[in-house]
Amino acid sequence: MQGTRTVLDEYVMSRPRSAELAERARKVLPSGVTHEKRWMRPFPPYIAEADGSHKRDADGHELVDYVMGHGALLLGHNHPRIVEALERQVRRGSHLGGSHELEVEWAEAVAGLVPSAEVVRFTSSGTEATQIAIRLARAFTGRPKILKLHGHFHGWHDAVAKTQSPPYVPREIPGVPEPVASQTISVPADVRAVARAFRDHDDLAALILEPSGASYGASPLPDGLLEAAREATRQHGALLIFDEVVTGFRWAPGGAQQRYGILPDLTTLAKVLAGGLPGGAVAGRRDVMSLLEHAESEEDAARRVVHQGTFNANPLSAVAGRTCLAVIADGRPGKRAEELAARLRSGLNERFEALGVPGCAYGESSICHVIVGDEVRNRTAGDLRRPALPPEVLKLKGSNRRLAWLFGLAMILEGVDLFAGSAFVSAAHTESDVERTIEAFERAVSRLRAEGEL
Ligand SMILES: Cc1ncc(COP(=O)(O)O)c(C=O)c1O
Repeated sequence: MQGTRTVLDEYVMSRPRSAELAERARKVLPSGVTHEKRWMRPFPPYIAEADGSHKRDADGHELVDYVMGHGALLLGHNHPRIVEALERQVRRGSHLGGSHELEVEWAEAVAGLVPSAEVVRFTSSGTEATQIAIRLARAFTGRPKILKLHGHFHGWHDAVAKTQSPPYVPREIPGVPEPVASQTISVPADVRAVARAFRDHDDLAALILEPSGASYGASPLPDGLLEAAREATRQHGALLIFDEVVTGFRWAPGGAQQRYGILPDLTTLAKVLAGGLPGGAVAGRRDVMSLLEHAESEEDAARRVVHQGTFNANPLSAVAGRTCLAVIADGRPGKRAEELAARLRSGLNERFEALGVPGCAYGESSICHVIVGDEVRNRTAGDLRRPALPPEVLKLKGSNRRLAWLFGLAMILEGVDLFAGSAFVSAAHTESDVERTIEAFERAVSRLRAEGEL
């Protein structure tokens, strides 16, 4: 059948159940989705179930899954130890209405793994984690402004809503009043731009960044930026916040800060932290975190940072999180995922070269980004960390948006689900998944060529 039907036609024809669910969804959910990133034309595949490195859609198609819970599932779907721990806990209560042992164990695990984490406060998401980290930085320094980098994503709250995606031009952000938006300064991920921002603004409470570079390394940081960020924040009395929502427990058991040997003042965590359930945390220096402590005097009460949350460290997230952290602690699952990701990146680049297709596979740690359609001067048939393309093109994973979309659809048709052009590789993936993905890539390329799209 291939060659007679377009990728789009075949996608629509082979997924009637997903189409039907999408139609129902559009009536009750904005654009039919519950997360912007899940929206796709003509409709997203509806997923019925998942296990290990695979999932099955509502029409019965099996997929190698690289979405992996938006990066939360470093151990793959349904890791037996996490499932067992959850099954036991769900019968003992999903909210115990009080303090419990699991949250202590979970916090001990975080403090034991993350080098700069002296004290931990749990939240229910990564967005909440960056929100409370920023409030702590403002309260600690007594300064109002936050410095962020273009393209770096820290969740959806007001303080980090600007410059999430290119073009990075000043614009109104609907729903965020200008006096609020103007408290956040955003500059390119560039050593000199960061230094200049600290010279120009003496009221910066913190610099927050993704230590991998924007979007878990899609747009890698220039060499020396983390060192410069550490130095500038120290010199200017501001805090350095590493947003390790993705890199935490993935770049190393102790996160990017352990891998690169640079310690922030505060770290935000989520995803792998909670073993596949909702959960986040801010962790860091005891003196900064002490602002969350119970106030013993009126003077203390005036300095205190408020923070609540009904489901903070709920026992299900806590048990999944502490079990996940116990499994990843020796670094072996992370290493395994990394080896497979490196194999995937190299294998794809071999095919890019062999087939003469513009684009590349690249990335760091257990992540593989794929760009199709842009010529990449420094590509070889091997692994690649930093493609020679402008940061904005890297952030969007390619300049040809139509081609990126059709490539994603074609990969789904060939049995592989990428996450907006990226693969979160887990310890549950196998060599055979990687082989299958590379073969799927070849077939996707020939489909797109047959249609004249590539
Ligand atoms: C680096 C980073 N920070 C923060 C967040 C927000 O986390 P959550 O989706 O749990 O609110 C994300 C989510 O993808 C992220 O990638």
